[in-house]
Amino acid sequence: MKFISLLNVLSTASAFPFSQFNQFKRSVITDANQVNDQTFDYVIAGAGIGGLVTANRLTEDENTRVLVIEAGGQGDDVRDRIDIPAEAYLNGLPVAGSPYDWGIYTEAQDELNGRNLHWPRGKIVGGSTAVNALYMTRSIKDEHDAWAELVDDDGWNWDSLLPYFRRYENFSPPASDLKDNLSIEVKDSAHGYDGPIQISFPQYNYPQNSLWQETFNNLGVESDSDPFSGKNIGGYITPNSIDPDTQLRSYAASAYLYPVQNTRSNLVILSDALVTRINFDTSSSKPVANGLTFTTSGSNNQFQVYASSEVVIAGGALGSPQILLQSGIGPRENLESQDVDVVVDLPGVGEHVQDHISATINYATTAPVAGNLSDEELDHQLQLFKDGNFARSVYSTPNGAIAYVPLDDLMGDDTDSFLDALEANMTDATSSGNEPEQVKSGYRATYKSDLENVYRAGNAVVEILMNNLGSNLGFQLAIQHPLSRGKISLGSQNASENANVDPRYLSHPADIQVLRSGLRYIRRLASTEPLSSVIESEVSPGEDVMSDEDLNDYIRSSVVSQYHPASSCAMLPRENGGVVDSHLRVYGVDNLRVIDSSTIPLPIAAHHMQITYALCEKGADLIRGYEKASDSPSATESESGGSLSSIIDIKLLILMVMITIMYNGLY
Ligand SMILES: Cc1cc2nc3c(=O)[nH]c(=O)nc-3n(C[C@H](O)[C@H](O)[C@H](O)COP(=O)(O)OP(=O)(O)OC[C@H]3O[C@@H](n4cnc5c(N)ncnc54)[C@H](O)[C@@H]3O)c2cc1C
Ligand SMILES: *[C@@H]1O[C@H](CO)[C@@H](O)[C@H](O)[C@H]1NC(C)=O
Ligand SMILES: *[C@@H]1O[C@H](CO)[C@@H](O)[C@H](O)[C@H]1NC(C)=O
Ligand SMILES: *[C@@H]1O[C@H](CO)[C@@H](O)[C@H](O)[C@H]1NC(C)=O
Ligand SMILES: *[C@@H]1O[C@H](CO)[C@@H](O)[C@H](O)[C@H]1NC(C)=O
Repeated sequence: MKFISLLNVLSTASAFPFSQFNQFKRSVITDANQVNDQTFDYVIAGAGIGGLVTANRLTEDENTRVLVIEAGGQGDDVRDRIDIPAEAYLNGLPVAGSPYDWGIYTEAQDELNGRNLHWPRGKIVGGSTAVNALYMTRSIKDEHDAWAELVDDDGWNWDSLLPYFRRYENFSPPASDLKDNLSIEVKDSAHGYDGPIQISFPQYNYPQNSLWQETFNNLGVESDSDPFSGKNIGGYITPNSIDPDTQLRSYAASAYLYPVQNTRSNLVILSDALVTRINFDTSSSKPVANGLTFTTSGSNNQFQVYASSEVVIAGGALGSPQILLQSGIGPRENLESQDVDVVVDLPGVGEHVQDHISATINYATTAPVAGNLSDEELDHQLQLFKDGNFARSVYSTPNGAIAYVPLDDLMGDDTDSFLDALEANMTDATSSGNEPEQVKSGYRATYKSDLENVYRAGNAVVEILMNNLGSNLGFQLAIQHPLSRGKISLGSQNASENANVDPRYLSHPADIQVLRSGLRYIRRLASTEPLSSVIESEVSPGEDVMSDEDLNDYIRSSVVSQYHPASSCAMLPRENGGVVDSHLRVYGVDNLRVIDSSTIPLPIAAHHMQITYALCEKGADLIRGYEKASDSPSATESESGGSLSSIIDIKLLILMVMITIMYNGLY
């Protein structure tokens, strides 16, 4: 055991030659005939976080056979753009027209001057984690405790979920000089140290990062300690999903699939195949899910696979409700309008949709930013990265300067009257008026919960993110606990067409007020020391955009999605418009679960990767019948694998051996 750990430490500690990374064997199958008509224990739709975490954990038991069907390809033709962190910004994949993006656009948004917003979603093995921005931020204790209360199941409270956050995490604390420079505090108990997802701090450090936290302190927002440990108020330099040794992206495929695919013959991934429908056995009174129907691109052939245990839907915030609707699970009216036979009339499917949206203020700066580097300089920086000079290359980093700010710091003396208005507006303001009663009841439940546990409790309502990758210093403001709710519905019988997405952004009048006060707060931030020392002048929208009306116009014309849509298959009681119960089982049918970000019932003040990894780790345990994190074999395995202290012990041991060797004259 010790020897294995020692070898692991030695091999991961040595730098990974970049060229070698591209040679990893990746044998995902693309021939649908190889699985057509076959039976597996579990069949899963979608190879994002939900699909790959679930498949990996279930196939730890060699007797469990799992098939995952993914619409996208593996992305080997764009390997650098997946693996090299800053390529995600400077040469991103989720652009319109890319084969690796679903090309989803919202309906015209009434409150956004009729704009249709792009909703990027990865169509690729690894899902959106292959194309996302690598920021690692975590939801907080109060949010999880509120979640547990809503679904009346303590299994979702903070204490129960923390072991699942630790399970996927392999955290590398920052080197001590970086730690001091950026005032990073690490609480060991909040972290996992041998999970599959690498979380670390980039080796390239923009000097303006060291000004971030102190500026918030000077504004009166003292930072909680480690933002992974249940509270997240204040300014932080947050880590990324980056391997500390190679500085390459760590994502659902590199963590949960590639390390096991050649050793687990019980795990099959079929890529480039679109799931169109769930199949049911309807011979008894309650329908039983027993397989999936899918097509492959460029053919009209329909293929079938069977599941003897369960079918798992993991298509993400748009894909999962769309698959349910196409299969006859959803609001009767929408299904009948598209000639889909109703299997379960479940009004909540596609409802409760919520997303973070953001607006930015840009400043001319004396600080270095990547967006104004010449093409030649960028080529040079990319070469530095490929040569392993990570600390000198902007390609090592998506930046981690993020802050979470509560309402009363934004609104000051106006906070109380705003909260009173929120209370008075509780019943209707979120609703378009046409939702079924169950859905409205869910709106009230989640609204009340947010008001009590977030708005009134002094938890963060906005995120501010410092962007060093443009040609100016940008401060991106994103609302985290919006009260607007939207809807996804079937608009076509053609399964290759995306469902209709109407997030109804800013339909609740409170959301634009929060955004407006957040933009004003950014101006205070930019004029506060020490950050103000690198700020020259406001470039956009410009200092003359000042009145409520002008700021509203700026918000309506410029906000974009922060790419965190959720809740379209919400985990809520059925009478509150829920789609899955607290064991992620779809109401009204047997042997069917949804396991992905679509099930998150409430807004959270964080990017969604971490909560989704934790949710899916727990989902896999629920399938296996484990009620608590400590019940599962993977938990025991990882606990014996190497706690932080044993890793430190081994590093110390190596150091001592080396010192001994040197002193003995062998050097
Ligand atoms: C551009 C972008 C940037 C982001 N940045 C960050 C960030 O910095 N930090 C962070 O924490 N989060 C970020 N996120 C959010 C995060 O990546 C997602 O919340 C997370 O990946 C959701 O996981 P999921 O499993 O629910 O869905 P996904 O990861 O989207 O996976 C769903 C999978 O199902 C497949 N699928 C869907 N429908 C079908 C079908 N019918 N048949 C077969 N397959 C199907 C999809 O192709 C996809 O592979 C970002 C997202 C995007 C798009
Ligand atoms: C932090 O490091 C940067 C260089 O990356 C340097 O410019 C800055 O002075 C340092 N700040 C502190 C407080 O040590
Ligand atoms: C980039 O911007 C900084 C700050 O405004 C400036 O000092 C620098 O000259 C710019 N570099 C280039 C290449 O334009
Ligand atoms: C279904 O939609 C796809 C994508 O828009 C399109 O290429 C295809 O022709 C459509 N099929 C039918 C039968 O309309
Ligand atoms: C409350 O509702 C009124 C009427 O729609 C609206 O003008 C006001 O902005 C709302 N305030 C909040 C905080 O929701």
